[in-house]
Amino acid sequence: MLFPRSKAILVLVFVSAAVAVAIGGPYIGASTESIAEAAKPNYKEFPHSAKAHQIECSSCHKFPSDNWNKVRTGTDAFPDATEYPRHESCLKCHMQQFFKGAKPNICSICHTNPSPRDATRHPFPNPREIFDASPKGKTATSDFVVGFPHDKHIDIVAGHTSKSRVFVNAAFTSVRKPFAEESCSVCHKTVLPQDKSDDEYITKPPATIGDGFWLKKGTFKSAPTGHTTCFTCHSADTGILPAPQTCAACHQLKPPQPAGDFDAKFAATLGVENKMMFDSWRRRSSAGTFRHEWFSHAELSCATCHNVLKMDTAKPETTKVGIASCATCHATPTSDDGGALNYEIDSRTKTPTFQCVKCHITFGKMAIPTSHTDAIKAAATVK
Ligand code: HEC
Ligand code: HEC
Ligand code: HEC
Ligand code: HEC
Ligand code: HEC
Ligand code: HEC
Ligand code: HEC
Ligand code: HEC
Ligand code: HEC
Repeated sequence: MLFPRSKAILVLVFVSAAVAVAIGGPYIGASTESIAEAAKPNYKEFPHSAKAHQIECSSCHKFPSDNWNKVRTGTDAFPDATEYPRHESCLKCHMQQFFKGAKPNICSICHTNPSPRDATRHPFPNPREIFDASPKGKTATSDFVVGFPHDKHIDIVAGHTSKSRVFVNAAFTSVRKPFAEESCSVCHKTVLPQDKSDDEYITKPPATIGDGFWLKKGTFKSAPTGHTTCFTCHSADTGILPAPQTCAACHQLKPPQPAGDFDAKFAATLGVENKMMFDSWRRRSSAGTFRHEWFSHAELSCATCHNVLKMDTAKPETTKVGIASCATCHATPTSDDGGALNYEIDSRTKTPTFQCVKCHITFGKMAIPTSHTDAIKAAATVK
């Protein structure tokens, strides 16, 4: 990505300042806000969590970016934040880091091959389709979570998906869709479905797989990775708040995340490239192997396992699925009735090293939680 000549003035300023520093000239732009060189940060990664960075999002992010109608084109394009903040957003405080050595570390946050003449940049993390495919995007993790209030939306998002009118907009029509689960699929689709294929695995499992775990198709549901759906309604045109430029109305700094039922080393052996899917897997804090597409699961109402009215998507403890949602089928009054949970608890009791693999990847090696033994007790007393 090269940038137009009109930006040449900035290059000039930048180059002359660099030269001044190199020849030991007076420090340009020193201010009380400049940062001591002795500090330990290496300036290779940008943390939104740094105290000094917790300022108005708009002091760095411009909305819309100049390139919004170049990263997406035609009818796919909409005003969006699709470019890195400019030098001005950092210089006030980071003059020293910008002029440190031939290739200052700080440049590589945004640039692929930093130099006073090379403006080439990594793709910005939005749109994710482009970013995820880049070397930087493959390993990047977000500093944020998104708080999406399902309760305020599920009755206004329509289930049908014609491109021009994806949504029934409460503000513009009196037709309110009743709570309908087909609306969930506007934002959540089955990832890599098995559909009519005979092969249930995403990639070929090793011949020695036996009862061992290997990732199956249709395990995960997708979630929005960007603004396409949200900004259909939250735009300057509709005036529905929060407005698109009020980033912090939807993005919140990520709180500490619970351990996921996920094993990064094992996952790397699967030979699957799908960043969005692995992000979901990492966040699975109940059952890592649970397959949405499996027919006896897919027939169930989403509400069997997800209470969207009580969920705050920014708080992982509120999105966890409890074992009670599985126990109705996988816990039985006695072990002879074939319950998978009964079988695994029995096996663990007999053999302390037994690993539970039906629903788990890493959790199955840990101690049996009381929620599980309680579920067995409950199943035994029902009938
Ligand atoms: C001091 C400047 C600065 C401020 C203030 C700032 N950002 Fe950023 N933001 C950046 C930079 C630089 C990047 C690119 C970082 C990277 O790609 O490693 C970025 C990237 C992002 C990303 C994509 C990467 C990720 O972690 O998900 C999101 C989302 C984002 N910013 C949202 C916000 C929101 C929301 C706010 C306000 C609450 C905000 N930013 C405030 C500088 C800033
Ligand atoms: C209002 C002042 C301010 C602005 C604006 C600002 N920073 Fe910072 N930045 C700081 C301070 C203070 C620290 C903490 C330094 C330390 O830890 O000693 C910091 C730390 C950092 C670090 C080091 C993080 C670490 O722990 O390794 C990076 C990288 C960084 N900033 C990049 C940027 C970039 C890029 C921009 C512009 C998009 C920017 N900053 C804008 C004040 C600012
Ligand atoms: C926070 C992200 C960020 C950081 C850090 C950053 N740049 Fe940039 N850089 C940009 C953006 C965005 C542009 C395009 C500006 C525009 O088009 O107005 C740019 C433009 C440039 C250009 C083209 C001329 C210009 O100013 O428009 C050069 C050369 C350049 N950067 C070099 C560097 C070097 C060298 C460093 C480190 C000392 C650096 N940049 C640090 C984001 C960054
Ligand atoms: C307009 C888009 C939209 C609609 C419609 C929608 N959701 Fe969501 N959903 C989201 C977003 C955004 C998130 C947060 C994703 C994230 O954190 O990255 C989310 C998160 C979730 C999660 C939590 C995922 C996790 O992190 O564990 C569940 C479960 C969920 N939605 C179920 C549903 C169900 C069931 C419906 C239908 C009743 C529904 N959603 C309708 C956008 C939507
Ligand atoms: C069908 C149109 C529509 C779509 C699509 C939509 N929203 Fe909304 N959103 C609304 C309306 C209308 C409100 C105001 C609801 C109210 O106040 O009862 C709202 C309110 C909100 C609020 C503020 C809630 C509050 O407590 O004040 C947030 C945050 C939000 N939406 C985020 C999102 C995100 C994130 C997405 C995309 C995943 C999204 N919205 C997609 C129509 C939509
Ligand atoms: C109406 C709600 C809403 C507003 C306002 C909003 N975003 Fe987002 N943003 C989302 C959702 C939802 C996603 C996709 C889900 C996710 O990232 O967890 C997203 C994704 C992103 C991404 C892609 C990287 C990532 O973390 O997945 C970036 C970058 C981003 N937003 C930056 C911004 C910036 C900058 C602003 C303000 C100019 C902004 N957003 C305003 C809801 C919003
Ligand atoms: C039988 C229970 C069950 C049913 C029915 C169910 N889910 Fe889930 N879902 C789960 C479990 C378990 C998880 C993993 C939650 C965790 O560990 O955080 C999950 C996770 C999710 C996630 C996060 C991404 C992922 O795959 O981890 C979304 C989004 C989601 N479900 C949407 C839906 C939607 C939409 C429906 C209805 C079409 C649905 N679910 C039906 C059990 C169920
Ligand atoms: C039918 C599916 C299923 C089986 C079989 C199963 N689990 Fe779980 N496991 C879950 C669910 C769902 C959760 C989330 C628990 C909750 O919050 O109710 C969970 C959570 C856990 C946790 C996390 C701690 C916690 O309380 O959230 C551990 C550890 C665990 N299971 C271990 C095991 C062990 C050991 C076995 C074998 C004896 C086992 N599980 C068998 C579904 C299962
Ligand atoms: C309505 C009954 C029902 C509910 C509720 C249910 N399951 Fe299942 N599940 C089944 C049936 C039937 C099978 C196929 C027989 C088997 O493998 O036990 C199955 C299979 C599975 C499999 C193996 C899938 C495969 O492709 O091999 C896993 C893992 C699983 N369930 C986990 C869960 C978890 C975790 C929950 C709770 C979040 C849950 N199930 C809730 C009925 C259910």
